[in-house]
Amino acid sequence: MPKAYISGVAMNVPDRVVTNDDLVTEFGIDTNDDWIVQRTGIKERRFAPAGVGASDLALPAAQRAIERAQLDPDDIDIILFGTLSPEYAFPGSGVLLQQKLGLRETPAMDLRNACSFFLYALGTGASMIEAGAVKNVLVVGSEIHSAGLDLTTRGRNVATIFGDGAGAVVLSATDEDRGVRRWKLGADGRYAEALAQRVWDTRARPFIPQDADGNGIVSPELMWAQMDGKKVYKHATTIMSRALRELVATERLTVDDLDLVLFHQANMRINQAVQAELGLPDEKVPHSISRYGNTTAATIPMLLAECVEAGRVQKGMKVAMVAFGSGFTWGAALVDW
Ligand code: UT7
Repeated sequence: MPKAYISGVAMNVPDRVVTNDDLVTEFGIDTNDDWIVQRTGIKERRFAPAGVGASDLALPAAQRAIERAQLDPDDIDIILFGTLSPEYAFPGSGVLLQQKLGLRETPAMDLRNACSFFLYALGTGASMIEAGAVKNVLVVGSEIHSAGLDLTTRGRNVATIFGDGAGAVVLSATDEDRGVRRWKLGADGRYAEALAQRVWDTRARPFIPQDADGNGIVSPELMWAQMDGKKVYKHATTIMSRALRELVATERLTVDDLDLVLFHQANMRINQAVQAELGLPDEKVPHSISRYGNTTAATIPMLLAECVEAGRVQKGMKVAMVAFGSGFTWGAALVDW
């Protein structure tokens, strides 16, 4: 049976840096650098200009990941795309990226797993490769959060923590004994509304409220993402450490056997709590949250790209990844690099 290894990885972020102070001075939000840094570890994030969609931000990351895998776009057998800030409600952004890559009929599938996208996509792509159905899978997470944030004091508990960014990996078939070794996913739909954007509701007629003239009207609570931060925090800290422990146990390993652990970059406080619970030393746990904020579907491939570029990932290393987010959904994976 072939195995699936990561043959290329790359990231892309917009040029515009928005610091915590900029949120106060440019956007007029009643917040401050201390509050944001202490609660989340975020110092700055990137915002894309109007006109740039999730597939646009994804394109350079996807192209570079394909190049680094020493492939051409035509070699990609399927695109797995993840975003919670797509250009359209439907179709998904995967087909838009497919066109921008110059591909004609390559299949493109959107996975709607928000912060856990990368783990869900890694499991899906690796399974397709192991089944012999495909040889090269492009996995891309890309977010244009800046378009969907309530950048006012009313929205500050959410708006201050998200940023724009894209990360891509290519998964390729190999006969070598390396690559994705184990993955484990989870979900608990009881908490679907603890972190959600409910801009429409197909149970209602019409699905978006209308005024007397038939124009759609969306209240701020429906237009902008809503989050029960304390609920997310509590579940994220317990579930991420459990997911990682269970993952390594199924491989008869312990957390100490891991060389590098990539956490979803949602919140530095959450990650520090999980790191401490697992007893992981700082050198095994890289972070990028301070520079990019939470880029949801893109955090892990972005962090992986930085680690590979910095030479922190070497062949033979055991690299684990773990994420938790909206749904609630979560996932963990172990990769033999
Ligand atoms: O992928 C998953 C992504 N989500 C997360 O990772 C979020 C997890 N949750 C958290 O990290 C925390 O719950 C937050 C950082 C979001 C919020 O921290 P908290 O300690 O739970 O704050 P809170 O919501 O209980 O609010 C405390 C105070 C409130 O003021 P009052 O009512 O005490 O006067 C808020 O209005 O902090 C206020 N507040 C802010 N103040 C300055 C909320 N957001 C801000 C802000 N700046 N950005």
